[in-house]
Amino acid sequence: MTKKILLINGPNLNLLGMREPETYGSQTLADVEALCRSHAEAKGMMLDCFQSNHEGVLVDTIQQSRGVYSHIVMNPGAYTHTSIAIRDAIIGVEAKVYEVHISNVYEREEFRHHSYISDIAIGTVVGKGIPGYLQAIDFIAEMAEG
Ligand code: DQA
Repeated sequence: MTKKILLINGPNLNLLGMREPETYGSQTLADVEALCRSHAEAKGMMLDCFQSNHEGVLVDTIQQSRGVYSHIVMNPGAYTHTSIAIRDAIIGVEAKVYEVHISNVYEREEFRHHSYISDIAIGTVVGKGIPGYLQAIDFIAEMAEG
């Protein structure tokens, strides 16, 4: 069966390209989404994209992904460090989530060192810039089915 990936970007990632370019680079969210889509398709998978600044909307989206998407690649933004609700949604629907952070959160402020997602994720990549998203897609491509 074709693997179907949902790429979810959380709060403020709609500002990619404008926001703190020294930390997050100059590519826009549209650039990142197009890159991820073509990378997934080149590996025989399908990828849809979603972004929201709202915690509840992200929870709804994770819940609704059940039965539609086999995997999620998610950069939860600042909700990584605060959201038990997003963690519970992932656990609740048994979503296979690969966590992506563009920056190296472990070399930044201490409040970014804790993630509510890492221990329940199928993998995590930090500090690799936009190629980190592609690394997540590669990992999913290589994962055994089921
Ligand atoms: C981020 C890191 C988070 O700490 C921050 O709040 C973000 C982006 C990253 O991609 O490096 O919004 O998830």
